[in-house]
Amino acid sequence: MSTDTHEPAAHYDRVMAAWQLLLGDELHYGVFEHGDEPLDVGTAALTSRMIDAADLRPGLRVLDVGCGSGAPARTIAAGFGVEVVGITTSAVGVDTARARTAEAAVGAVTFEQRDGTDNGFDDASFDRVWVMESAHLMRDKDALVAECARVLRPGGRMVLCDLVGHREIGFAEVRERRADFAVLREAFGDAHFASLEGFAALASAHGLDVDRSDDLTSATLPTFDRWRANADAHRDEVVALIGAAGHDAFVRSCDLLEAFWRDGTFGYGLVSATKAPARSSVS
Ligand SMILES: C[S@@+](CC[C@H](N)C(=O)[O-])C[C@H]1O[C@@H](n2cnc3c(N)ncnc32)[C@H](O)[C@@H]1O
Repeated sequence: MSTDTHEPAAHYDRVMAAWQLLLGDELHYGVFEHGDEPLDVGTAALTSRMIDAADLRPGLRVLDVGCGSGAPARTIAAGFGVEVVGITTSAVGVDTARARTAEAAVGAVTFEQRDGTDNGFDDASFDRVWVMESAHLMRDKDALVAECARVLRPGGRMVLCDLVGHREIGFAEVRERRADFAVLREAFGDAHFASLEGFAALASAHGLDVDRSDDLTSATLPTFDRWRANADAHRDEVVALIGAAGHDAFVRSCDLLEAFWRDGTFGYGLVSATKAPARSSVS
């Protein structure tokens, strides 16, 4: 078992309660169409973008890879009549998601501790695979997308949104800015960004037909202001959960990421892709 607290499962075990105060129930960025919306409106808008791309219909079976506290899973199960299986490598995440779902009395939603890069489900056992802001926590993105494609039924869809890299960061820059990258690692755990084009290329390589590739960088930028405001408003509770160093690393990370968003280094994107429908047999 890993003793590295930056490894995503250990990191999410540690930060889950604090994240609910800092990020809200939905553990992802917001899309701010007007710029002045509160955080929960922005995070719901990003979930809506994923819903649009996923083309959800009652009775479909959805795999949610990296389910967080289960908020998106509950939203789509309650709103669209889909069955959702959420997975995460974090044991605390599974417990939290199960407890919240029982409280909300949402049916057809279950959670399991599994790894998105080796999920163990049967081939062709889901109609949709939903990967919401978890891919950056998986170093092996080829394995992630291969698994998504494998478990999709013919005609099924993968939708993925995440932080993306807009340019290569050379070794010299990594070395020069190692203190900044250490702060980001402290706040968000081990992360590895792919480009939007990289995700699309992986989907194509695994036999999926990419039909959407949206750059959401400027629409997600106000997220950092909202997170800083939450860090300020909930400082004492957050310090009690992850310590003053954890709180301060989060605030400093908001500043660093905002600067990276503005200078074109990092950003946010959404990709969707379809698995070819089964061929009807011709006699
Ligand atoms: C930023 S949170 C997003 C949570 C949720 N999708 C949401 O939007 O509210 C990232 C999630 O990915 C999970 N995760 C990290 N690595 C994973 C892996 N290899 N397999 C499955 N889940 C993983 C984390 O435990 C966490 O639940």
